[in-house]
Amino acid sequence: MSKIRVFSGTRATGRLHLGNYFGAVKGYIDLQNDSNYDCVYMAVDVHTITTPYDQHNLATATKAIIMDYLAAGLDPEKAIVTIQSLVPEHVELAFLFSSVVSVAKMQHLPTFKDKVKQHPDNVTLALLNYPTLMAADILAYKASVVPAGLDQEPHIEVTREIARRMNDLYGTDFPETKRIATPTQYVPSLTGEGKMSKSVEGSSISLTDDLAMIKKRLASCPTDSGNGQEIPKGGVSNLLTFVEIFEGIERKKAYENDYKNQGIRYGDLKAELAEAIFNYLSPIREKRLELENNQDYVDKIIKEGAEKARTIAAATLAETKIKMGFYGKN
Ligand code: TRP
Repeated sequence: MSKIRVFSGTRATGRLHLGNYFGAVKGYIDLQNDSNYDCVYMAVDVHTITTPYDQHNLATATKAIIMDYLAAGLDPEKAIVTIQSLVPEHVELAFLFSSVVSVAKMQHLPTFKDKVKQHPDNVTLALLNYPTLMAADILAYKASVVPAGLDQEPHIEVTREIARRMNDLYGTDFPETKRIATPTQYVPSLTGEGKMSKSVEGSSISLTDDLAMIKKRLASCPTDSGNGQEIPKGGVSNLLTFVEIFEGIERKKAYENDYKNQGIRYGDLKAELAEAIFNYLSPIREKRLELENNQDYVDKIIKEGAEKARTIAAATLAETKIKMGFYGKN
């Protein structure tokens, strides 16, 4: 039986944090370790240029994503791990796909509208084409499964529409891609509101923060007097969620009990929690350091990943062009 192809991508904006790890990367690792799946995971740097970005930092930020991936446990022996811009077939396929996508449809996507609000002076064709490129990422590998958050559903829907249109018009065999939410743990923001996010200042702990940094970040997490009948939502209950993830449910229950009785001393709680997070992340941090000191190895993984990816993507592209009527051999 042939394996189920999986694709997912991470934009090269900032380092991976705990929310990315528990919310996405752990799921990627589970799929990579399951022999029913063939996985392709990329740092999607071409998507980065759809909004204002720093050209002096793009390459570094892109490679940092790959190193974070590898440090967290993505295994180049089991999955293809590489950088999107090294597989130019994505961009060519995206252009072909853009011929079956209407401008009006793209303008109405919630993600497009959000970005227009954020960057009103940068409403570019690249931004409008963001979902088309994403469809090309996925369909270049005929991936039927994409692990991604709910916010990506409109893009996956566009991917399915493109696949259907292409199959109807040209007889291609693109799959109807499904988004899957891998079993993940919700990681709250340190600010006490919403989930941990790259774009919210002070909300996250990065996978490679040292102990001092973790302490500093926890220090700004809002608390209360430490005593009462019920744990309030927000900062305190978020802290206890962290306790549960990194120190276990029993420790959390003990704190809940303290809250109703003698009270919680947050200084102690935060110090203990910082140690627990630090220890939990130790293997990732050590692997990351090893990779940082072995750039040639990282470059080799990226290059080999790109070669494997290109073999598949080039075949899809060639087949698509022939079916669309371009000059060339069948
Ligand atoms: N749009 C995704 C995000 O913002 C990133 C992405 C690009 C992606 N191409 C993809 C995700 C293909 C899944 C599959 O997170």
